[in-house]
Amino acid sequence: MDIGEVAKRLAEAGQSHLLQFWDELSPEEQADLILDLESMDLREINSFFKSAMQVSSHSSEKVDARMEPVPREVLGSVTRDREHLMTWEKEGLLQISQNKVAVLLLAGGQGTRLGVPYPKGMYDVGLPSRKTLFQIQAERILRLQELAEQKHQTKCCIPWYIMTSGRTMDTTKDFFSKHNYFGLNKENVIFFQQGMLPAMDFKGKIIMEAKGKISMAPDGNGGLYKALGSQKIVDDMEYRGIAFVHVYCVDNILVKVADPTFIGFCVQKGADCGAKVVEKTNPTEAVGVVCKVDGRYQVVEYSEITLATAEKRSADGRLVFNAGNVANHFFTVPFLKDVVNIYEPRLQHHVAQKKIPYVDTQGQLVKPDKPNGIKMEKFVFDIFQFAKTFVVYEVLREDEFSPLKNADSQDGKDNPTTARHALMSLHHRWVLNAGGHFVDENGTRIPAIPSLKDGTDLPIKCEISPLISYAGEGLENLMRDFEFRPTLVVDEKGFHELVKNGV
Ligand code: UTP
Repeated sequence: MDIGEVAKRLAEAGQSHLLQFWDELSPEEQADLILDLESMDLREINSFFKSAMQVSSHSSEKVDARMEPVPREVLGSVTRDREHLMTWEKEGLLQISQNKVAVLLLAGGQGTRLGVPYPKGMYDVGLPSRKTLFQIQAERILRLQELAEQKHQTKCCIPWYIMTSGRTMDTTKDFFSKHNYFGLNKENVIFFQQGMLPAMDFKGKIIMEAKGKISMAPDGNGGLYKALGSQKIVDDMEYRGIAFVHVYCVDNILVKVADPTFIGFCVQKGADCGAKVVEKTNPTEAVGVVCKVDGRYQVVEYSEITLATAEKRSADGRLVFNAGNVANHFFTVPFLKDVVNIYEPRLQHHVAQKKIPYVDTQGQLVKPDKPNGIKMEKFVFDIFQFAKTFVVYEVLREDEFSPLKNADSQDGKDNPTTARHALMSLHHRWVLNAGGHFVDENGTRIPAIPSLKDGTDLPIKCEISPLISYAGEGLENLMRDFEFRPTLVVDEKGFHELVKNGV
């Protein structure tokens, strides 16, 4: 397409300003800009903007009156359904052993709050082993494969689908290749790329971040569904005989990838879609809750309800709307296929108002101090409404959820320190449960009191490799009545009591 043709299309779409610095660009910059513009469906982008703004103008309306909590009959709980846990786990391990389970990692985000120039999965939160989030997840997959193989005396694999964005793809792939896929079979680690959309100002004009460069951002973690179709990922799942998929976010250091108990629960309930949740205990915590609105399941954000509704409690003292979403989902492959073929186009983008750096009409870069435009995003949970059989699985926050969102700061939340502490505190509990003990530098036993649940106090320094234990299993023989001096590291080479540590 020549520049005349591009200019004509831009004029039709009301986006002619994208060429305002054309004459000042080098031939390479001109070629790059043309390439970017050619790949954009401007009509579609304009219509996304229109409907996203329409939806967002209604989003300040509160939904309280239309909300119902998750009914008990669709709820499974690790604390309230103890008698079923083993059956569910058995079912999950059986499905895994039959190669029917895959995991899908959402890793296309920009990680702006954490603020590192590389993908979040490559982050090392400062554990004694210095393992990154990607390595921890890879090793959990390896261990789970081993558990299923041991139980069913058969080789199996859990394919790992990794969604990246234009910005994170190459670095992510290089990192995996450099680390030899962390021991996984390369053929079973499948990378694919989500779409990008331009940032727009409040009038619908596309924003330029440099004279020859459009400001682009990934289209939200719900961009997954378009990518599943366009990159033929559902086809790949069908080809491999996958029936069930566990979808999760890159930043939760405690994530139980392909959790067999969660999978088994969803399978036995005949669900096509399931959400793992943790109990929301603080009414003002800014976490979305899974509930029904007008009879259909969705995640309602804290900002969409009144404080009175957020504070409502039932007779047992729990919050009525307490199913805190942790972005851990179960889907059947036929459901995902329907989503790709039928429902995805019906999903509308959400609007996130942001401070977006832009070049002004003089060509100067401006970094605004208040929101000047929007990014359009779909969310991974937007498809709950289409499920025929939806289930919810409640787990303990201290065992399964500690997201890495922010850089370290004093009294901060969801940062490298809280993530590191949450993992070490979980592993401390595993050692205690296995009958092990910790002693201080004088050899005196440290009281067996697990550290605080929120990861803000100083935990005993202890790390157990996922290659040794997926969820605390198999440690009794190694630990019963043994005494350990922190820092304790347990890995495939044995026990290490690190004298010097920087944890
Ligand atoms: P967040 O919404 O926390 O975004 O993503 P983020 O990119 O990690 O961090 P900020 O907001 O820029 O600071 C939750 C999960 O969804 C994924 C992220 O990689 C993370 O696993 N995600 C987010 C995508 O895969 N694609 C997106 O477009 C956005």
